[in-house]
Amino acid sequence: MQAETASSHYAELGSGFDQAWFFASGYREWLANRICLQLQLGAEDVLVDIGGGTGLFSELVRQQAGLKPDVVCVDRCPELLAEAAKRPGIKVCCADVQQYFMSPLPGQKILLKEIVHHLPQRPQLWQNMHHALPVKGSVLIVTRPRQSEFPLFAAALEEFARTQPDSETLIAELQQAGFRVQCTEEKFEIKMPTEQWLKMVSSRFLSTLTMIDEEAFLQGYEELKNQLSGRQTVEFADRIIFIQAVKR
Ligand SMILES: C[S@@+](CC[C@H](N)C(=O)[O-])C[C@H]1O[C@@H](n2cnc3c(N)ncnc32)[C@H](O)[C@@H]1O
Repeated sequence: MQAETASSHYAELGSGFDQAWFFASGYREWLANRICLQLQLGAEDVLVDIGGGTGLFSELVRQQAGLKPDVVCVDRCPELLAEAAKRPGIKVCCADVQQYFMSPLPGQKILLKEIVHHLPQRPQLWQNMHHALPVKGSVLIVTRPRQSEFPLFAAALEEFARTQPDSETLIAELQQAGFRVQCTEEKFEIKMPTEQWLKMVSSRFLSTLTMIDEEAFLQGYEELKNQLSGRQTVEFADRIIFIQAVKR
């Protein structure tokens, strides 16, 4: 994904980011719970949430795991970090991930939730993370499979598959950097009013949707409206991939 397009997408969403991304009640708590379990968080752990945005998940994870130290929420988008800074127990750091790992790391657990598709030069980044972490320190990548089950139009699904790295590639890269790696997939079943889903799509809640030019987007959106016409609700699974990498 082009860095500038993605950056302006997040800056424009700003305080509206959390609303733009709302699937169902209980969804965020479910996901935060999975993150706590995958990272095996203990009360004294310092969690570094890379690409943490508005800090929504930094805060949920901190509460669920009962973390005593602040969570460090790192992002390159000041508009999103301004929201994160309002949350209790969150320390913000405005930096690009590539530069962040050049300095000493304040924690031993790293979360990368829904950011990996934005990152170029990943192998170098994994090496820097490996170097920065203490032994037994870990990284959790939370991402989605390339073949999405989201009810989207064809051009959007193609763009999603094009920009999303596949899990086999990520696993191989992390192993190459020296990590012990485990991968699991879970899903959350979503049912929401069709109108709400169409509103999310028209606001281009997914950064992938901002990569499609205006004409193709409008055409695709009409295609989707026709596909969904007469349906009160949309039902689909949000499939989430968890890749856990531990420094031996
Ligand atoms: C889809 S959002 C995910 C936000 C948050 N992790 C969540 O799940 O709610 C992706 C985030 O990654 C950030 N990001 C993208 N590339 C980055 C980079 N190179 N360095 C730091 N942050 C980056 C964006 O600013 C944005 O906040």
